Amino acid sequence: MAVSVIRAQGRDYPFQVFDLGSLGIPADEFTAFFRPTFYTLQWDYYDVRLRHIRFLQKCLPADTKALECLLPSYYETGIRPALMESFLAGLSRDQRREFDAIAPFRQRSATNLGISFFGSDCLIEILRPRHYCQSACDYRAMPRLFQAASPEVLGHSLFKTLVVAVAQMARSVLGCAAMELVMHQISVIATGQQVGLPVPEGIHQDGARAIVSAIVCDLENVTGGESVVFSPYLIIVNSDPVVGFVKAETQEIFRQRLGVGQGIFMDDLHLWHYATPVKCVPPAASGRRSIIGFDIHCR
Ligand SMILES: [Fe+2]
Repeated sequence: MAVSVIRAQGRDYPFQVFDLGSLGIPADEFTAFFRPTFYTLQWDYYDVRLRHIRFLQKCLPADTKALECLLPSYYETGIRPALMESFLAGLSRDQRREFDAIAPFRQRSATNLGISFFGSDCLIEILRPRHYCQSACDYRAMPRLFQAASPEVLGHSLFKTLVVAVAQMARSVLGCAAMELVMHQISVIATGQQVGLPVPEGIHQDGARAIVSAIVCDLENVTGGESVVFSPYLIIVNSDPVVGFVKAETQEIFRQRLGVGQGIFMDDLHLWHYATPVKCVPPAASGRRSIIGFDIHCR
């Protein structure tokens, strides 16, 4: 399908809200197959480790810098250094109980795919699992290893149809006949005690040329989860040499709660994105928002 554009700060960027039907994919059949596959994905314990450090920093503000120094190795390995144990020993009983109650809230997989077009034919290669790193100046740049999608998913005809459709959209915009896709399956869980954060890192880019962010496969007992897109980050430099004022600025240019079967294809080189927290709807004890996303890199 043809990819449209969104206008921001006087320039156009590739952007398209689509539904599975417009890609020639039967939405009901697709979601009926994919929805249960999210329930068995591994939990993301990187999120838990990040929340551990942030919680300790909130409880022990004088040790914020020391705790930040512990983050890289703890985030990557999950091994608590001796210094962290000593910080934990300094918590009150209630604080320690709250620390121990921090639970994972995302289940996910990440699968690397090589794509090559030969004329109108498309070759999909399942690449071996690799550490996932985002282009960022913070903890997201640290390598994370996620389980690949199941053979059941990777062997399904609708998965192949989706990958080809995404690759064709990317080719029409980026012009590359070979690319690497990282396909993410992510389920965000919300409970009565804990909201689910689709993007704990906040407003961000994924470090790709373009992304599919994200195809919604399940919305079960949840509110929230709005997709929000922002314009490029512009640094505005005041020409006054005395004041020398510099301001970094971005603007919200799109906001929509995607329904099941809907997705967004968008530029990731200039545009930024975010998704609002997911809250459980009582009387349900828990709810989930499950999505499929793609990072798209030209080769
Ligand atoms: Fe993202």
